[in-house]
Amino acid sequence: MSEAAPPRPPEKGPCDLLVHGTGGIMGTVEGADALAISDGKVLAAGTEAELRARYEPAHQVDAHGLLGLPGFVDAHTHPAFAAGRAQEFDWRAEGLDYLEIAARGGGIHSSVRAVREASEEELTACVAAHFRRMQRHGTTTCEAKSGYGLSLEDERKSLRAIHAAAAATGMQVRATCLAAHMVPLEHQESPDRYLDLLCEEILPAIREEQLAEAADVFIEQGAFDLAAGRRYLERAKELGYGLRVHADQFHALGGVQLAVELEAESVDHLEVLSDAGLEALAMSRKVHAGLLPAVPHFLRQADDAPARRLIAAEVPYFVATDFNPGSSYTASLPEAAHFARIRLRLSSAEALHGITHGAACSLGLGQTKGRLDPGFDADFVLCELPDLAHLGYGFGENPVQRVFVAGRELR
Ligand code: NIG
Ligand code: FE
Repeated sequence: MSEAAPPRPPEKGPCDLLVHGTGGIMGTVEGADALAISDGKVLAAGTEAELRARYEPAHQVDAHGLLGLPGFVDAHTHPAFAAGRAQEFDWRAEGLDYLEIAARGGGIHSSVRAVREASEEELTACVAAHFRRMQRHGTTTCEAKSGYGLSLEDERKSLRAIHAAAAATGMQVRATCLAAHMVPLEHQESPDRYLDLLCEEILPAIREEQLAEAADVFIEQGAFDLAAGRRYLERAKELGYGLRVHADQFHALGGVQLAVELEAESVDHLEVLSDAGLEALAMSRKVHAGLLPAVPHFLRQADDAPARRLIAAEVPYFVATDFNPGSSYTASLPEAAHFARIRLRLSSAEALHGITHGAACSLGLGQTKGRLDPGFDADFVLCELPDLAHLGYGFGENPVQRVFVAGRELR
């Protein structure tokens, strides 16, 4: 009589990479502290013991003492600039505000001058440097806007620079055409001519050349009024762009309601969001509120977006840097999370959602980015944080130690 054979351990499958020893992996798998990765995707998240029983890894990363988080997603950035605007800090100290600086030919117009003077190669090098700064702070995917070119030639150059810099750095990018950032100086006497140019030439050409998937407009006094914003966004929608909108930063002109009406992906800033705007967002629950809490800090603005009211109304949201030379010169999403926690009163879990999955959803990437669940892209960061409660607690220092895109470390 033969003895019953002892049950065989289940066969282990191969995996490219096992990340273990983290102080926690923030996905939806409860209690996970390890990740198994193959072909750039998360195979499984779980405890180290579970994953070692199931997988034979080709490579391992010992993440002892570090917190594993999804790669950060920055859903609102303006990286296509060629020079900083540090001198504006002094003008501001003299008492000039953001719109007065712009009216002086400073602000956005001075960034436009610098972009127009730069060659495509020079601008690409600037954007790549910006992407590397973002990556060092944990951003693995970003939305990147043009908007300092303001002519077909210079918007095209900006978007091409964004794509070239993405290829050079490994930043995963969704590009947005912000040719309606401001009316350029040469069209100040006839802003309608610029609007014609936007709708009849710039938007169609950029779309035709597949340089941008979304279009954005700055609806504000001194930029575009509501009627111009409507014409631009309706044309962009007709051409198949996703819509993103800058609105209610200093004046509530109705841009939020317009964004809801046109089913935009997001409407961002909202520091002076009106009750009507909030109601429209709460009714829709589809248009993301883009929270940019470093901006009012940077501009010494007293108002903050009413984030608690938006979240209570179940409006989908994200938290972004708004990285740009004039109103938010930070490439760091951990810093944006800090301001979100201080100024917007977000919890650490809400801030993390804002810089990961909430942001991914606003970009149409909610099925692949921003979480570390099976099937998602293996974009993750290892942070020197004892636990999630410490995300955005410290400021002025970078907690991100290691950054991985599709299972490969960026160096
Ligand atoms: O999102 N508000 C408009 N545009 C940017 C600022 C651009 C700039 O000042 O260069 C923003 O804050
Ligand atoms: Fe912006």
